[in-house]
Amino acid sequence: MVFGIRTAFCGLLGATALVAASSSAQAAGNLNLICSADVVVCELLENAFEQETGVSVNMVRLSSGETYAKLRAEARNPRTDVWWGGTGDPHLQAAADNLTQQYESPRQSELRDWAIRQYEASGGKTVGVYAGALGWGYNRDLLAAKGLEPPLCWADLLKPGFKGEIQIANPNSSGTAYTALASLVQIMGEDEAFAYQKALNDNVSQYTKSGSAPVKSAGRGETMVGVVFMHDAVAVAAEGFPIEAVAPCEGTGYEVGSMSIVRGARNLENAKLWYDWALRPDVQSRLKEAKSFQLPSNKLAEPPPEAPDFDAIKLIDYDFEKYGATETRRALLERWDKEIGASAQ
Ligand code: G6P
Repeated sequence: MVFGIRTAFCGLLGATALVAASSSAQAAGNLNLICSADVVVCELLENAFEQETGVSVNMVRLSSGETYAKLRAEARNPRTDVWWGGTGDPHLQAAADNLTQQYESPRQSELRDWAIRQYEASGGKTVGVYAGALGWGYNRDLLAAKGLEPPLCWADLLKPGFKGEIQIANPNSSGTAYTALASLVQIMGEDEAFAYQKALNDNVSQYTKSGSAPVKSAGRGETMVGVVFMHDAVAVAAEGFPIEAVAPCEGTGYEVGSMSIVRGARNLENAKLWYDWALRPDVQSRLKEAKSFQLPSNKLAEPPPEAPDFDAIKLIDYDFEKYGATETRRALLERWDKEIGASAQ
């Protein structure tokens, strides 16, 4: 009997707590988020934001190019409030296509120059949240087993020893691979860059959907080389896999990972709340907990010691405005589909 009363009492307490929790979640409302960085960091941010604000976050991880296509498809009836992360080019394209909206955070003055340049280039519709340099990671054990020299230059990736041993993403879905395509065009000139990619195609075993997948495969020993952002290679090495990160000797491009609020966002106030929160230095300092080793955009955030040293990398003067413009991006992707994608095994 006593037991019965206690159970009823606990049940009542539980129900009260549940009602309280659900009404505070209701008061805080919802946020529909697309996250285009690694899923581990996406989940870390989702949980931290929910805990701090009580807002219920519905997060989906999609690659950068896929997200741009989704925002276009749902332009008349937006289902997304905020897009965090992913390479800057499709964020700029979304801004130019009027799929996203202007917002200036009170945190603006704390941001690095490259983050503000992204904001200015988009008419205030996107902002930099992190930066990362393009390169690749190779599996040193597989390389040693085949007696190959480490590939240190773009030219090395064409060597016959790497036949079937390279993975890179598809630039239609992946911002990483689009950064590779646009960087090669800027380093070599367009025709030479396409000739290079045709030759590279002989050594590529797979064009993946997501940008960082190739180096994860290299970590597991499924391929020798994954062309990715260098911080993604460092992250796989930090997991204990035999991966070496390379900054290509001829020079390389980089990303300004970005964030945008969707035009017509249904949960606009929560989108702004997220936007300001995601620019906070203490939040950006936490990215490394998820082995996300990009350079944070807030000058007051603590950069991860593992982040590749930008001063030691031969970076090109990447033209974000040109390569994030709709006509350039569309033309390069069409040419890639015709000349590379169509002949990919
Ligand atoms: C990884 C990197 C991010 C990058 C993203 C792009 O998650 O860590 O820095 O922005 O890839 O993803 P995507 O699949 O579009 O290449």
